[in-house]
Order: sequence, then C-alpha cells, then structure tokens
Amino acid sequence: MKDALRGVLAGVALSALASGATAQEDAKLIVNGEIEMVTTTTAPEHLEGAFREIRSGWTFRTPETQALQMDDFENPAMIAVDRAQVVWDAVDGTEGNSCSSCHGTVDESMAGVRAVYPKWNEDAGEVRTLEMQINDCRENRMGAEPWDYGSTGMIDMTALISIPSRGMPVNVAIDGPAQSTWEKGKEIYYTRFGQLELACANCHEDNYDNLIRADHLSMGMTNGFPVYRLRNTRLNSTHQRFRGCIRDTRAETFAVGSPEFVALELYVASRGNGLSVEAPSVRN
Ligand code: HEC
Ligand code: HEC
Repeated sequence: MKDALRGVLAGVALSALASGATAQEDAKLIVNGEIEMVTTTTAPEHLEGAFREIRSGWTFRTPETQALQMDDFENPAMIAVDRAQVVWDAVDGTEGNSCSSCHGTVDESMAGVRAVYPKWNEDAGEVRTLEMQINDCRENRMGAEPWDYGSTGMIDMTALISIPSRGMPVNVAIDGPAQSTWEKGKEIYYTRFGQLELACANCHEDNYDNLIRADHLSMGMTNGFPVYRLRNTRLNSTHQRFRGCIRDTRAETFAVGSPEFVALELYVASRGNGLSVEAPSVRN
C-alpha cells in the first residue's frame, strides 16, 4: 500500500522519517504539571489487524509544538475557552436562560461529556455530536437562534465543554443503536476519494509516521479536537479537518455538519477509544 500511495501521489513527496528527526515520540504529555495524558495505548478491539497500538497526534508533532500544549498559559486555544465562558453565563433567547441557568458550572456539569461524544440520543433517535446537542439546547430550551455548525462561537463552546474531560479516556459507544451510524462512518473511512483515489486509511493507517509534503503523518485521531492549528491560527473542528483532508485528495467533499461527517466523526473517535481527551490541543 505504501508503494501504491507513492505511485498515486505523483509529485508529492512521501518519505520515511529520517532518524533523529523532529518528533519526540517518547515525550510525556502532562498539562499544567498535573493532568497526565495517555498519548499511546493499546488499540481498541475493533482495530485488530490494523493497529496494535494507537497514538495521539501530539506524539507526531515537533517538541516546540508539543510544548505549547503542556501549559495553558502557552496554549493559544485558551483565549477561545475564555470567550466561551462569557457566553456560557450570558442570557440569550426568549426563555431568559443562559447555559448556566440549567447546567450550573462547566466543571461540574460537563465532566466526562466530551469523552463520550458523538453519542446516541434516545429521544431524538439519532447520534448527536456536541454541536448538535448545543444547538438543540439553544433552540428548544433557550428559544435562541441556533449557531452555524462551523462558526467560531460554536467551536469555542465545544472547547470550553472539553476542559473538564481533559485526561479522561475517549470512550464512545459503537454498539446498540449507534452501530449502524458507526458502520456508515467506517465505510466512508475506507472509501477512496478524488482524483488521487485515496481513502482516509491510505494515509492515516497505511502511512502514518511517513512524511507527506512537509507533514509528519499521524494516525488521524480526534482526541485533541477542537484543535488550534498554527497554520491557520484558529480553532478547527473535526469536520473542518475532515473537509480539508478530503480536499487534499482533490475530491468534492461532504458539508460540515452533514450526516456523513457525523457518522465519520463517530467512527474516527472510536479508533481513538482509550487515548486521553486533549482538547483543545495544538497542532501545526
Ligand atoms: C432550559 C435548560 C437548559 C439550557 C438553558 C441549556 N441546556 Fe443543555 N441540556 C439541558 C438538558 C435537560 C439536557 C439533557 C438533554 C438530553 O439528554 O436530551 C442538556 C444537555 C446538554 C448537553 C449534553 C450533556 C450530556 O451529558 O450528554 C450539552 C453538551 C449541553 N446541554 C450544552 C448546553 C449549552 C452549551 C447550553 C447553552 C448554549 C445549554 N446546554 C443550555 C438543558 C438545558
Ligand atoms: C493524502 C493523505 C491524507 C488523506 C487521504 C487524509 N488525510 Fe487526514 N491528515 C493528513 C495530513 C498530512 C494531516 C496533518 C498531519 C497529521 O496530523 O497527520 C492530517 C490530519 C488529520 C487529522 C488531525 C489529527 C490531529 O491529531 O490533529 C485528522 C483527524 C484526520 N487527518 C482525519 C482524516 C480523515 C477522517 C480522512 C478521510 C476522510 C483523512 N484524514 C484523509 C493527510 C491525509
């Protein structure tokens, strides 16, 4: 498969990472000197045959980028978290509620939530992402306008909600009522897209640890999302990242917030079951 990819990516440099290279795979991620993150662990059972071990995207980054995530004063995503805290406490909509009117503090009400999303919602009969759940609360419990799925305000809020789950293992459910959505996501993961005819798996399963253009390819995990990217100097959601990756194969892409990306998000999250929630993380 590595050879196949080399053939397909004519003109795109793909090479093994030279020894003594930039990433520090053995480095330990401890945030603020207290939150110990699991960045390498045994792969979940459903990945048997693909991986024995899974690794967070953090382990593929340079020491400089890694360091930005080890201290909240250095982490540029924390500005977004502060912004969202103000919104959390602000009344909006016809019912006179803020998020805190019902939920109280983020730390107490949202601990563990980020780790289990996307998640099946029984009443709605659908798998919901955090964004979908937030908009459900805005529309149906606050009488407020829903936020655009990929808007800054929405991504900021998902970052804030992630904070009390940092260090907890990702643990999305893939059986029971969520199973058919998970299977749809899995099918998308292995579908080849675009002129380059590349599936997610061709890069993130068959070629992780190789260099593509100037990028050290990771396993494409979502435990760090939303992610502050040094490249566009803002927070990025999982769906924005998926769209960018598919665009790189020169394909038409699914929309942010589409049922296809919701299914893909559940599937990709399940590949990282066992890694710590790192959100909001820092990547290049
Ligand atoms: C009027 C009360 C109310 C307000 C205001 C409200 N929520 Fe909710 N929220 C709920 C209830 C009730 C649930 C559980 C709903 C369910 O399981 O279907 C919930 C669930 C959630 C969840 C999922 C929690 C989980 O354990 O799965 C998130 C995330 C959330 N709300 C975020 C927000 C945010 C962000 C705001 C403000 C923009 C907000 N909520 C405003 C009542 C509210
Ligand atoms: C042509 C190769 C290629 C394909 C195909 C591809 N990606 Fe990526 N992806 C990259 C590169 C390069 C990066 C940036 C470096 C890294 O984190 O791996 C990246 C990053 C990511 C990240 C961020 C990881 C992190 O820790 O921040 C996720 C998640 C991801 N990809 C998911 C996907 C999914 C899902 C698909 C299929 C829809 C896909 N990718 C298809 C090349 C690819």
